Amino acid sequence: MRRSANTPRGAWAFAAAAAIAMVSGTSPHAQQKPAADGAKPAVTRPVASAAVARGKYLVTNVADCGGCHTPGKIGPNGPEADESRRLSGVPASEKVSPPAGSGPWLGHFSLPGAFGGPWGVSYPANLTPDKETGLGGWTEQQFIDTLRTGRHQGRGREILPPMPWRAFRNMTDADLKAIFAYLRTIPAISNKVPDPVIAAPPK
Ligand code: HEC
Repeated sequence: MRRSANTPRGAWAFAAAAAIAMVSGTSPHAQQKPAADGAKPAVTRPVASAAVARGKYLVTNVADCGGCHTPGKIGPNGPEADESRRLSGVPASEKVSPPAGSGPWLGHFSLPGAFGGPWGVSYPANLTPDKETGLGGWTEQQFIDTLRTGRHQGRGREILPPMPWRAFRNMTDADLKAIFAYLRTIPAISNKVPDPVIAAPPK
């Protein structure tokens, strides 16, 4: 919390309070009761904000989605996440070929964030709400189905390593919905992540 309080987004303090209300078991319905002074009740916003705050906490502090989905760059102290492109996936320009056979090593990763290994090359997706290149056109159900089945939108191609969907599939519906709700609130960034290179299975 101390670290979060230093982030430039002032809204976080409010969001954190909403999250605390949620984990401490405050019923969202309590917020739908009219205030004692007769003021109009705020019906949807506090409830939605609690989910968004929970999603931010999961994405940022627990599951580290940005560790793979935010591109890297060289900063003053070496490689670092490019926060100006937060969660927007591997930049469109980063097309790389699969690594050649490399002794005991199983995989490689490039600074902007492509992963190469026996599966070919995978590029962490754009998770921002951009309609054309991110999750903007996805439904909540498609998102949940993706993380539960390890297939694109629940029925497309299998998702390549190292996307940790086998762990994420164990999250509750409420947590997956919260993550999706939070991802809807981050800035949309147009970035068409390169298509993966899918290697032939080993003989
Ligand atoms: C260890 C790295 C890693 C982490 C951590 C990670 N991802 Fe991924 N993710 C990937 C890679 C690589 C791909 C692309 C896989 C492919 O193209 O088959 C991907 C793809 C996706 C996709 C797109 C799937 C599709 O069908 O288009 C979604 C959605 C996604 N990740 C969500 C998340 C979320 C949400 C989190 C955090 C809760 C997360 N990822 C954390 C590596 C990661």
